[in-house]
Amino acid sequence: MAWFESVAEAQRRARRTLPRSVYKAILAGAERGQTYRDNLDAFAELGFAPHVAGGSAVRSQATSVMGVDVDLPVLLSPTGVQAVHPEGERAVARAAASRGTAMGLSALASTAIEEILPLCAKTFAQLYWAGSREAIAARVERARAAGAAGLIVTLDWTFSHARDWGSPTIPSQLDLRTMARFAPEVALRPVWLARWVRSGALPDLGVPNVEGAPGFFAAYGEWMGTPPPSWADLAWLRGLWDGPFMVKGVMRVDDAVRAVDDVGATALSVSNHGGNNLDGTPASVRALAAVVEAVGDRAEVVLDGGVRRGSDVVKALALGARAVMIGRPYLWGLAAHGQPGVENVLDVFKTGIDSALLGLGRASVQELSVHDLLVPEGFHRRLG
Ligand SMILES: Cc1cc2nc3c(=O)[nH]c(=O)nc-3n(C[C@H](O)[C@H](O)[C@H](O)COP(=O)(O)O)c2cc1C
Repeated sequence: MAWFESVAEAQRRARRTLPRSVYKAILAGAERGQTYRDNLDAFAELGFAPHVAGGSAVRSQATSVMGVDVDLPVLLSPTGVQAVHPEGERAVARAAASRGTAMGLSALASTAIEEILPLCAKTFAQLYWAGSREAIAARVERARAAGAAGLIVTLDWTFSHARDWGSPTIPSQLDLRTMARFAPEVALRPVWLARWVRSGALPDLGVPNVEGAPGFFAAYGEWMGTPPPSWADLAWLRGLWDGPFMVKGVMRVDDAVRAVDDVGATALSVSNHGGNNLDGTPASVRALAAVVEAVGDRAEVVLDGGVRRGSDVVKALALGARAVMIGRPYLWGLAAHGQPGVENVLDVFKTGIDSALLGLGRASVQELSVHDLLVPEGFHRRLG
């Protein structure tokens, strides 16, 4: 595999490797794509204030998030059904372990949590508020038994599927009929097809972490039919777990404060689901500073959405994030080259962070502050 030097190149390779529908399913973005685009554009509005001397020859990226030590402040955000590669979450887990970082395992992952923890001990189990309290409690218990390092509860999904550029058709499994329907686009992607042929399996949308493994669409239907949680429901959920507990999808200051003070979250992810849910929500990085200020040191704040290079990570950290999580970038690496592709993406981030630290004259990610940035007027959004 030829090494790539940017996430943009990983994306290009993923586009060339994946059947069109699969590529589009990952790209996603809701409705007119306003939030998806703002996640990217906002990082480009931020600038740096570099130093030319007095820097450090040794620069550290090590930190800890949710009680686990990581070698770089870039975590792999949970993403569902990684059928972009036969090794899916297993490849992602091995890559996370080899680069010394942590991953979130999606509630709708295509690999069982018991298979992932032995590959990457720094795995957080992600849950949605879906199904009965008994079913949710059983998932928490299963995560504990498997040895998950923490829980991530994602609360920002709005079941909005319409996209102005058309939604891809996603079959629940590839039987002969659907294979025939997808044959023309799959035939154009021989590398992807050959990988699956070699693996002896077919891509399917199984969700083994949902009890009874009903398949993606049944699990999704149950989730859609579940009334949204109250703050009391979330406090109940928190009470089932005594370890690190992240609420993911927070954009507003008032929600952030309730999640920490009423629910007892130890970490928040300022996130809009990568622009995949309520279109019109601003870029997560615009909402970051206000949330950091509101929760102070009562919780760790991470950011996800639109992070595409090491310098984006440094910008988020300078605005107060403890670390970032990435979604599409590692899925593109996975699609392009499996485990080495995910490792390559993490290496792109690592070298980019190091360059930015060098330019800013900082010896560690902990030294970053807003003084390293040029923040244009009107950049921040304080929601709530
Ligand atoms: C294809 C895809 C699937 C996702 N599935 C999940 C999921 O199952 N659970 C979850 O909490 N977030 C999910 N997310 C959101 C990511 O965890 C993360 O918030 C988002 O991808 C970050 O934005 P980025 O892709 O710009 O890095 C998904 C995102 C994508 C693109």
